[in-house]
Amino acid sequence: MVTDTTASVRPARAVNGVVRIPGDKSISHRYAMLAAIAEGTSRFQNFSAARDCESTLGCVGAMGVEWRRTEHGAIEVVGVGRQLKAPAQALDCGNSGSTMRMLSGILAGQPFASELFGDESLSRRPMARIMKPLTEMGAKISSSEGGRPPLKIQGGPLKAIHYKPEVASAQVKSCVLFAGLFGDGETTVEEPIRTRDHGEIALRAFGAEVERSGNAARIRGGQRLHAIEALVPGDLSSAAFFLCAAALFPGSAVTLPGILMNPTRARLLDILIQMGLKISVAQLEEHHGELVGTVEACGAAWKGGTISGADTAALIDEIPVLAAVAPYTENGIEVRDATELRVKESDRIAACATNLRKMGAEVEERPDGMRIPGGQRLHGAELDSFGDHRIAMAFAVAALRAESETTILGADAAGVSYPTFFEDLRKIAK
Ligand code: S3P
Repeated sequence: MVTDTTASVRPARAVNGVVRIPGDKSISHRYAMLAAIAEGTSRFQNFSAARDCESTLGCVGAMGVEWRRTEHGAIEVVGVGRQLKAPAQALDCGNSGSTMRMLSGILAGQPFASELFGDESLSRRPMARIMKPLTEMGAKISSSEGGRPPLKIQGGPLKAIHYKPEVASAQVKSCVLFAGLFGDGETTVEEPIRTRDHGEIALRAFGAEVERSGNAARIRGGQRLHAIEALVPGDLSSAAFFLCAAALFPGSAVTLPGILMNPTRARLLDILIQMGLKISVAQLEEHHGELVGTVEACGAAWKGGTISGADTAALIDEIPVLAAVAPYTENGIEVRDATELRVKESDRIAACATNLRKMGAEVEERPDGMRIPGGQRLHGAELDSFGDHRIAMAFAVAALRAESETTILGADAAGVSYPTFFEDLRKIAK
């Protein structure tokens, strides 16, 4: 049963069935932002139902951009061209770091002052990583102490820069490339590790030229964007919960149609295969530069393994669910190089360790990750989502193999990325 904030999950014996995963959150944010500053009306099928993407639509709506849901569930955004209207009030980014960080890139190029704020969790998250490049480009930005929200931005004409971020972050890359549209020359972002490239792909879909060489992406200022009609692929990070659920029960089979297969995100599938899940992908297609396919997964021996280095960056959003199911693997799972997990919607290393221990698991928590031995039996427990969508969903999956019922407090956090998650999980868990 799901109440406003609490969900109970009973142990299951198998998961089987087809799940239609909502549109990718990363792509939906970028499409909404670029559609807002494009010329013409864009239409998106399967746009993410996430509360986070509503935050983005709310912010662009407050700057004169009309948007609406059509009868057939699509979202239409009426672009206003490169110049937005000054917002009458501070812009509410809710729980969404993506909204605050990426929209700041566009706001830095606007001839007005704006302010962005978020909820309690977002108010703790680091923003210096976007303030630094945007300040170098000539925007005036101030924040609360320690580079935390709220942010005040005085935008205007920007200088093109060559920027080398210290942290590998696709949000930072997209922020700087979006600001680069308003730069006086060519702006380059050279990343330490290649991150998801939805920003570059979306910019190209809307008609901008973006060059890529090695880990660098380049954009020329002054380019105009044109509206598109697009289908948003199913979110692979949301699909991860069902793939891990299948991995828990040998012989279980789930089919997930229309899932994002972008190579900068699909490393997850390789790792799951290495850990023992049987996966095949069929009906591969390309939509506006993004690969999409139907994923079929069958549970088999669930071995576990290590996630480190570039893999950690590539799987950063899926580590909570991998950690939550780690005790059920044969050899356990070790996560390294993951300090970024401590500054997500919650401290995800601490949240995973706390919940696993409440279920009776042994966990070694480290500053940059954790080691969770395999071959453990877990019991049901009363767990906390810590207000974090991925923690709520990760532990709903772990609860399927526990020996008694689990209660997740604050389960409605799941709506931040996947409002129908608990219904969908219940349909396939038997
Ligand atoms: C995202 C990038 C990642 C990811 C987040 C979405 C994006 O964050 O964790 O959920 O859409 O670019 P960072 O850029 O902070 O690594």
